Amino acid sequence: MNHAAIRSQFPLLNRQQEEQDYPLCYLDSAATAQKPASVLQAMDDFYRQHNANVHRGAYQLSAAATAAVEASRDKVQRFIHAAHRQEVIFSHGTTESLNMLAYGLEPQLQVGDLILVDSAAHHANIVPWQQLAQRTRAHVQPLPLNDELCLDDAAFNALLAKRPKIVALGHVSNVLGTVNDIAALTQRIRAAGAISVVDGAQAIAHLPVDVQALGCDFYAFSGHKMYGPTGVGILWGKLAQLDKLAPMLTGGEMIKHVSFSGTTFGALPHRLEAGTPPIAEIIGLAAAIDFLIQFAHAQSHQYEQQLLQQLRDGLAAMPEVELYAAHANNVGALAFNIRGEHHHDVGALLDQQGIAIRCGHHCAMPLMSLMALNGCCRVSLGIYNNEQDVARFLAALQQTIALLTEDT
Ligand SMILES: Cc1ncc(COP(=O)(O)O)c(C=O)c1O
Repeated sequence: MNHAAIRSQFPLLNRQQEEQDYPLCYLDSAATAQKPASVLQAMDDFYRQHNANVHRGAYQLSAAATAAVEASRDKVQRFIHAAHRQEVIFSHGTTESLNMLAYGLEPQLQVGDLILVDSAAHHANIVPWQQLAQRTRAHVQPLPLNDELCLDDAAFNALLAKRPKIVALGHVSNVLGTVNDIAALTQRIRAAGAISVVDGAQAIAHLPVDVQALGCDFYAFSGHKMYGPTGVGILWGKLAQLDKLAPMLTGGEMIKHVSFSGTTFGALPHRLEAGTPPIAEIIGLAAAIDFLIQFAHAQSHQYEQQLLQQLRDGLAAMPEVELYAAHANNVGALAFNIRGEHHHDVGALLDQQGIAIRCGHHCAMPLMSLMALNGCCRVSLGIYNNEQDVARFLAALQQTIALLTEDT
């Protein structure tokens, strides 16, 4: 891998910082990844030369836009190894995909049903289940974590024995970078007769995702975390499961026949894609997949893991730093605090040195409360980061610690 060549494909990383003496050091890819020029170009080309609505025009421009959207669906299918193209549903992002599930599964739920949810989950994989439980008088129970802040195996088994209806897991924690062994967990979920839902938002750019090998029923992710645009995401589901899903949105595009005496819905995938889809974003997502598949996964993964190790080692060498769940097989992100200091002060002082990291609860308040924290700092990596970024971050953090401790 030619890392300098990869980085040079990201125009934003070469920008000059306004009002700052430092060049940007972007370490917040878990929030959103920067976009390569090819993604920007694909969307620009669409709007400049091919813009038309899809699926309903009788003219060539519309047919070409439709073909581009459907080609993107095929690309996603191959990227995640889905068995059928109709299993790939376009949404506006992970949040919408998970809400589509929480609405769509409602008719299958009964009073008293149990929904198990990963305690380390992002709010997008918690709140929709709570809302579903409120509507159906089902209940949500958190899946406990062990001392390593990973799913507690014994507790998982005990809760599965209660015959839950749905089990919602994260693939990779957006705070800690910890990984759930989805293939092993879904086997047990299936044996318990439950539906498995996996939030892949933080996995999709870092791990090879083969939905058939993972064995889950549903898998959700966002384009913008995998070098694609915001405003597009995927809900993948097994055909038989998607077929049973009630559409959250109804209206144009998803119908077979409409009359005032009744409406019939169309077939998958369109049945779950009401309204005009985010066409340019879907085309941008295809360009992001083309960008990602240039790299042999093993190589890019190894490189990212080296950077993560450099980060872990650097942070572990600072006595003022409290590192959280920094396991060797974590992916993409690392969480920490400076003892006795507020995470926002750390983030603000790093920002003054051109370093962009994220501080706060990271949309994972239940995890924060399990860790007895009101927030933490998170560094996260993308394919464009390099050893200099990590070294700059570590040096800036030393400087920040010196400034903060000088104060006290
Ligand atoms: C694990 C996880 N799930 C869900 C989401 C929500 O994604 P989006 O805002 O793209 O819908 C995020 C975003 O940070 C995330 O990290």
